[in-house]
Amino acid sequence: MEFNKLGIIGSGLMGSGIAQVAAYSGFDVVLVDVDQQRVDTAIANIARRLEREAERGRVSKEDAQSAIERLSGTGEWETLQPLANVDAVIEAVVEDLPVKAKLFERLGQVTRPEALLASNTSSLPLSDLAAASGRPERVIGLHFFNPPWALKLVEIVSTASTTEETLQDALKLCEKMGRTPVQVKDTPGFIANRLLVPFIFDAIHLLDSGVANAEDIDMACKVGLNHTMGPLATADLIGLDTLQLIAESMFEEYGEPRFKAPTLLRRLVSLGHLGRKTGRGFFRYE
Ligand SMILES: NC(=O)c1ccc[n+]([C@@H]2O[C@H](COP(=O)([O-])OP(=O)(O)OC[C@H]3O[C@@H](n4cnc5c(N)ncnc54)[C@H](O)[C@@H]3O)[C@@H](O)[C@H]2O)c1
Repeated sequence: MEFNKLGIIGSGLMGSGIAQVAAYSGFDVVLVDVDQQRVDTAIANIARRLEREAERGRVSKEDAQSAIERLSGTGEWETLQPLANVDAVIEAVVEDLPVKAKLFERLGQVTRPEALLASNTSSLPLSDLAAASGRPERVIGLHFFNPPWALKLVEIVSTASTTEETLQDALKLCEKMGRTPVQVKDTPGFIANRLLVPFIFDAIHLLDSGVANAEDIDMACKVGLNHTMGPLATADLIGLDTLQLIAESMFEEYGEPRFKAPTLLRRLVSLGHLGRKTGRGFFRYE
């Protein structure tokens, strides 16, 4: 199947980043969210990022401009009508199973039968979304990394119902977007988050028990372990609310204490200190 037009649902951190990569890779992109204002803000932010990249000489002005022109957005959340003629959908809304399942049910009704339906979920059971869609053979996980324009990995997640043709289509989509795919079965956290989440939580426990401060914990990992970012800065980048939701579904599935969200993380989320996106998490941002 040829992929030219993509629907991306959710214009937050991940949805807007994936939309940027897709438009830059030559896809026509329709970005969908619960209201038009969120979508307009996201498209303006993508345009600003692409223009900045062009000013820095990392992309050509023409390529940045064409990418911006390939983006459109809609707040038609209830009908999803603008997705009726897309070749594939990538869903990147809040990590909440009922919200995503309802969306996949409607996608199964609104999109063309051959359209690929992908979710960017980090931890929820893809099989539940596949079943909700009514055509589980065309459902697959495409788990991008944050920020999508900088990190090239995509975990491709198959369920027991995903067909070989769907898998090949997903690989084709990743190739056109310049991504590096790895394949994984439908298990909460897949590869990367299964390793990363307990690591971040151990860093939070170190901080909360007063063993070291946040700067020194992250410095130890950067300078001593050669990590590009420390675990607490990584948590702030993910978004502490999203990290908590990811952990909750992993804990529910595995029942292992290492996936239980630490109290300090929950308290910061309650206070609205969600990391970079609100200017404050474990660190403060301008
Ligand atoms: N943040 C990360 O580092 C990261 C990395 C990979 C995958 N993911 C996954 O991507 C998805 C989106 O995460 P994000 O970080 O972009 O989140 P975000 O909070 O930045 O954006 C969530 C989007 O969902 C929309 N939305 C739709 N219905 C909603 C509802 N009922 N309640 C709240 N929001 C609703 C919001 O308008 C918003 O645009 C999640 O499934 C998450 O697990 C996140």
